Amino acid sequence: MTDHTSPDARDTGLAAQYEAYPYPERNPQDEHRRLLIGSPSHLREIDYWVFGAQRPRSTPLRALVAGCGTGDGAIMLATQMAREGRAGEVVCLDRSSHALSIARARAEARELGNIRFVEGSLTELETLALGHFDYIDCCGVLHHLPDPKAALDGLTSILAPGGGMGLMVYAPYGRTGVYMLQEALEQLAPCDEPPATRLDMAKRVMRHLPATAWLRQNGNFGDHLSGGDAGLYDLLLNPRDRAYTIGAFLDLLDGAGLETTCLMEPARYDPALFLPDPKVRARIAHLPLREQASLAESLSGNMATHVVYVTRKGRKPTPPDASSFEAVPVMREIPGVELAKQMRADHTLPFAFGTLVVPVPLPAQARGLLPLIDGSRTVGDLAAILATRGVPDTKFRTIWQETFHTLERLNRVLLLPPA
Ligand SMILES: C[S@@+](CC[C@H](N)C(=O)[O-])C[C@H]1O[C@@H](n2cnc3c(N)ncnc32)[C@H](O)[C@@H]1O
Repeated sequence: MTDHTSPDARDTGLAAQYEAYPYPERNPQDEHRRLLIGSPSHLREIDYWVFGAQRPRSTPLRALVAGCGTGDGAIMLATQMAREGRAGEVVCLDRSSHALSIARARAEARELGNIRFVEGSLTELETLALGHFDYIDCCGVLHHLPDPKAALDGLTSILAPGGGMGLMVYAPYGRTGVYMLQEALEQLAPCDEPPATRLDMAKRVMRHLPATAWLRQNGNFGDHLSGGDAGLYDLLLNPRDRAYTIGAFLDLLDGAGLETTCLMEPARYDPALFLPDPKVRARIAHLPLREQASLAESLSGNMATHVVYVTRKGRKPTPPDASSFEAVPVMREIPGVELAKQMRADHTLPFAFGTLVVPVPLPAQARGLLPLIDGSRTVGDLAAILATRGVPDTKFRTIWQETFHTLERLNRVLLLPPA
């Protein structure tokens, strides 16, 4: 399709969108009843995937949420830091004053004192003079910008030495149907029209969207109407919306001098997980990790986003030693007792990669081991408890290695940094 609109006009349309429909649609009152959890920017993930569980928890963390929107990631991180008494601050940057006002109201509802808000563009970081950050979140923003590479370069330039980022961009195959509808709506409701006019047109089309439209076939967006006006607008009317295959995203990161410490979840990017055939697995084993990830994306077909943690090239932390008896395992979010309950009689854990559910095998003993993980017991403590249950040290080591490796790849069990 020919693009008759200049890049600046699209960016003006983007600014108008988020001023009219701050994203995601949130009610600050909801903060009194629940905390929204996600990736990137979960504190345990930052500790583990960015800093390799080596950065002491007492070291202040300075975080920037670039394009914070109505604040999901920033509120989660600032709340987790406050709950754990972690020093530092979360700086929220967005150019939508409306989105910032909602994020601010959410922070006030939680009485967070470790968060502040800056109105401005992440393409003008130099003039904003925000200083350097140990951690930068840029979730769902890069793919809307006129020059994602320049934006990533700018963010990298304000990363403190040894710091890292959590990023999310759209992925094409899991968004099958979205771009067809975006093209159609661009004809019916061009992006230079007022946002309310465009939204009205989209709603009219959606009411009669043929059952054969690929968006209707796409299980990832079964609830695309439940995100309110902001959700519908963002999905179907966004003036600039690119999607990256994992290969294209890794190229973008590489060009910005970054390397990944984690593709989230790591297991999701391992095609062997859902290809049990031994001959196929043998082929997969010979492929470089990047090609394995591409294969997983093409075959699963349901990846609608890519979430990654990155550091500067050459600054990736050495992976922590999970077999050390001094290491302290911690559940990322779901308590061990709950995860153990989810295990089936055949000792598999059904794991949902979006709409794809895969049974992941675990050692039978994981059922008894998981409830012992409380974020304070060391691996040595776990070994001692299992010894009292008749599990010898050598057997414990095998069980633990297998359990940790599998659940770390699913982002369920991580390690805690030193105090
Ligand atoms: C899809 S929302 C994502 C919000 C949030 N990061 C999240 O994941 O929930 C994109 C946000 O980026 C902001 N944005 C877009 N371009 C920007 C720019 N050049 N500078 C600062 N913010 C920008 C928009 O105002 C909007 O709030």
